[in-house]
Amino acid sequence: MKAGFVQFTPELCNLDKTLERLEKLLIDAPPADLLVLPELCNSGYNFPTRKDAWEASEEISDSRFINFLADHCRKNNMYIASGFCERDGFKLYNSSVLVGPEGFTGKYRKIHLFYNEKDIFSAGDVGLPVFQTPVGNIAMLVCFDWMFPEVWRILALKGADVICHTSALVLPGFAQRSVPIHALINHVYVITANRTGTEHGLTFTGMSTVASPKGEVICQASAAADEVCAFDFDLELVRNKMITPRNHIFADRRPELYQDLLHL
Ligand code: ACM
Repeated sequence: MKAGFVQFTPELCNLDKTLERLEKLLIDAPPADLLVLPELCNSGYNFPTRKDAWEASEEISDSRFINFLADHCRKNNMYIASGFCERDGFKLYNSSVLVGPEGFTGKYRKIHLFYNEKDIFSAGDVGLPVFQTPVGNIAMLVCFDWMFPEVWRILALKGADVICHTSALVLPGFAQRSVPIHALINHVYVITANRTGTEHGLTFTGMSTVASPKGEVICQASAAADEVCAFDFDLELVRNKMITPRNHIFADRRPELYQDLLHL
């Protein structure tokens, strides 16, 4: 499996401009089975009002953005995981969508909303799915979810090979430092696809990161440039959870002693 990220600047509330930028980057992208794009890629992030977010949002079943991704995935026989401003009825969700050669494949809705997102989006209500695909088992988290170790663990326990972390990170370096640790202690690949640019005074921190199941940083982008990369992922490595001949990182867990997590 070859996988990586596209780091760039989606244009706030301007899908035409975003698609124009993305198309150029995807045309020049290295061959990949999976690419990850930033959070809220079809809309931009820092909406002045909820009305702006509403107008920029799309329904999954009627989305120019998803149709564009599906077209690219069909032509290149690949998958793309992308942040997506999702409208469903009267609600908005800060979602990630997985799109593949057959089109829309699945979605995740961000569980942990960050700062002003709480005024705009409903919290995720579709749990923590893992999608089995011919290229590997793919899961998604969105940006501030990085702060909550429970969600990484659940996805790893459900068999995720790679966690696609669609992001618009603003706290300097925090997530970029923690992601390799999540990868190490859950023995999964993580792709944090962050964005660049500034919207209404909010600057995004770039430094998109790919981390291996050994916690190694395979690649880290610069803070501000457009960057696209793809690397070989070793599915045999990620599926072998033995960390010594006598320690399986999941079988050695003691969930009966972790019950406080449910109450504290
Ligand atoms: C974030 O969750 N976009 C910081």
